[in-house]
Formats: sequence, C-alpha cells, structure tokens
Amino acid sequence: MKHILVTGGAGFIGSHVVRRLVNNYKDYHIINLDKLTYAGNLENLRDVEGESNYTFVRGDILDSDLIEKLFQEYDISGVIHLAAESHVDRSISNPMEFIQTNLVGTVTLLNVAKKFWEGRNDVCFYHISTDEVYGSLGKEGMFTETTAYDPRSPYSSSKAGSDHLVRAYFHTYNLPIKISNCSNNYGSYQFPEKLIPLMINNIIEKKDLPVYGKGDNIRDWLWVEDHAAAIDLVFHKGEVGETYNIGGHNEWKNLDLVHLLCDIMDRKLNRPAGDARSRIKFVQDRAGHDMRYAIDASKIERDLGWTPSLQFEQGLDMTIDWYLTNSDWLNNITSGAYKSYYESQYKNR
Ligand code: NAD
Ligand code: TYD
Repeated sequence: MKHILVTGGAGFIGSHVVRRLVNNYKDYHIINLDKLTYAGNLENLRDVEGESNYTFVRGDILDSDLIEKLFQEYDISGVIHLAAESHVDRSISNPMEFIQTNLVGTVTLLNVAKKFWEGRNDVCFYHISTDEVYGSLGKEGMFTETTAYDPRSPYSSSKAGSDHLVRAYFHTYNLPIKISNCSNNYGSYQFPEKLIPLMINNIIEKKDLPVYGKGDNIRDWLWVEDHAAAIDLVFHKGEVGETYNIGGHNEWKNLDLVHLLCDIMDRKLNRPAGDARSRIKFVQDRAGHDMRYAIDASKIERDLGWTPSLQFEQGLDMTIDWYLTNSDWLNNITSGAYKSYYESQYKNR
C-alpha cells in the first residue's frame, strides 16, 4: 500500500482530489492533513469519510512535529500539497496569514520530506500552484511555463515564493518535485467568497451582485474536476522537476460571466428575465486588480495527453444545479462567520 499525504484536502480543490484518489486508487492510503480554517469543511468529504483507505488528520502544515509523526507512522511516499490561504481579497486585508501558511508552511513540509526521503527517487513532492504567479496580461498573449514570474497581490506573491522554494529544494537537495500552475477553478464545494459561488448565492438570496470596477477583467475558467484529473495525471506521469500549466482555454470578461449566470439562474428559478441583472452593482475596484489571465496548456496536452472534458456552459449549468440542490451546504456556510466577512468586504466598496 502507498501512503499519500494530501494537504488542504478539506478545501475546494483538495476535496475533489481526495475523492478522486480514494475512489480510484484502492491500493493507496490517502491521509488528508487540513487545519480546517474558514475554508476547510469536512462536509465536502462526507461521501468518502468511511472509506478504509482514507484518514483525516486535523492539523497545521506549520506543525513540523505532527508532519514528522505522519511521515514516520505511515511511511509517506507522496505529498500533494494544496493547503493554502487562497483568496486574493483576504490577502489584501491580511497578508501575514498568507506568508505563514503559503511560504513558511510549504518550507516546513519540504524540510520534513527532505529529512525522510534522503537519497530516494521513488517519492514525489507535488506542489499545486496558480497562474497568478505570472502576473497580469494585456489584451494579447498567454502564460507558458517559461513566462517570467511577476506576482502582484500578497496572495500571488506568497504562491510565487512557495513555487521558488519547491524548485530550490529540487536543485539544491535533489528532492523529487513537480509543480503545476492552474487557472481559475469553478465547481461544487467552492467557498462563496470566490466570484462564481458568491454570485450564485447572492442571486438565490436576491442580494446585490458586486462587480469590481467596470467588470472588464478577464479570467480563464476551468472545471474543478478537470483540474483534479490533471493533478492525478501529473502526479503519476509528470516528469520530476517539471512544471505544467493547466487551463481551459476559456477566457471570460467578468461582466459577461455575471450576465450569463444571471440569465441561467433567472430561468432555473422561474424569475422574470432581467431580474438578477437588475441587482448588479459596480463597486470599488480591487486594489492592484490583475487585468487578464490566460493559460497556454499545450505542454500538458502534448506531453501527458490532458484536455478539459467539459464545455464551460455545461460545467456552469451543472455547478449552478449543484448549489441549488445543496442549499444546506451553502446555508451552513453563509449563516456563520461568513456574514461578518461579507459585510466587512462589501460595506465600504
Ligand atoms: P481553499 O481555500 O478552498 O482550501 C484551502 C484548504 O487549505 C482549506 O481546507 C484550509 O482549511 C486548508 N489550510 C489552510 N491553511 C492551512 C494550514 N496552515 N495547514 C493545513 N491546512 C490549511 O483553496 P482551493 O481553492 O481549494 O485551492 C487549493 C490550492 O490550489 C491552493 O494552493 C491554491 O493556491 C491552488 N489554486 C487554486 C485555484 C482556484 O481557482 N481556487 C487555482 C489554481 C491554484
Ligand atoms: P476571484 O474569484 O476572487 O478569483 P481571482 O481573483 O483569484 O481571479 O475573482 C475572480 C474575478 O472576479 C476577479 O477579477 C475579481 C472579480 N470579482 C468581482 O468582480 N466581484 C466579486 O465579488 C468577487 C469575489 C470577484
């Protein structure tokens, strides 16, 4: 049996990765280490929590004693590192937590892996990162694996720093590593602070729909299960020391995306056409707002044969249906501390 440590497995993307590995690799034991911050939620993994090849451990990636204990107890031979503070707006109000978890936490994990894996090449430390490390594009061009790093928010800077550290452990200590940088994900179990689930929730609740600036910033959206499939592929087939960009060739201007969500949801909720659009509010822009992200995913397509499985409209439709069906999941989040977060974010905009 192979013991794989997944960090941040109770979050949005992590829960899809854990579910996929637990269900598809019965000869793996998946250990999910998660601190359960505001973004971590064991509800995301109810369907796999009873599986015999799955163990949940509540803990912090900054706790090196705990991580050493896990490496010792389970003879960990793979790490898939997703734990992070992940929201740009929160990084603008509170950068320190991003430095702690994303930078210091990643080095803490790297140090334990280095200590336990000295001289081994049958092991892998796989770091999950973002396209935001490459900065902001103008009208033309796409991010490739060789685009120079140019992060602009505390979030993307902390992720860029963690990517550099992971590569440094490969070059300096021969630690077998892999990295992937993915574009914006959407899908089930995403915390409603990010654009798509926030808008879905606000449309359901007939609240204002806060569009930053003029809504002309562009993001490249990928269905989370396609990201999980790519992570599975890179973990098993990717070259050690390599970086893979992952994205859906699916660029949307924020305002166009919000319009699309409004129109689909008015239909699904049997509301008059234009009802949701009437609640769009153009609010103060995000500080340092990156204009455009777009991923060139040709390397992972060419080398590993990965392509996205879903058209965006299909993925968005399934995602909206998921949030409408799983109203308890959404209510459990939005009835708690989320309320004061939401008010603090939007009252001054
Ligand atoms: P998320 O915020 O939904 O989940 C993060 C998880 O990490 C949570 O379960 C949280 O409890 C856990 N965590 C946070 N700090 C921790 C700590 N100190 N110790 C242990 N666990 C801790 O994030 P997500 O959107 O699922 O993103 C997962 C990873 O993918 C992140 O590394 C992020 O940078 C990267 N990524 C995200 C996107 C996206 O669109 N969401 C795109 C590309 C890359
Ligand atoms: P977000 O989901 O926070 O992802 P990221 O900033 O990491 O790309 O935001 C996606 C885009 O949507 C980004 O351009 C900011 C914008 N946005 C809004 O216009 N309104 C909102 O309420 C939020 C959360 C985001």
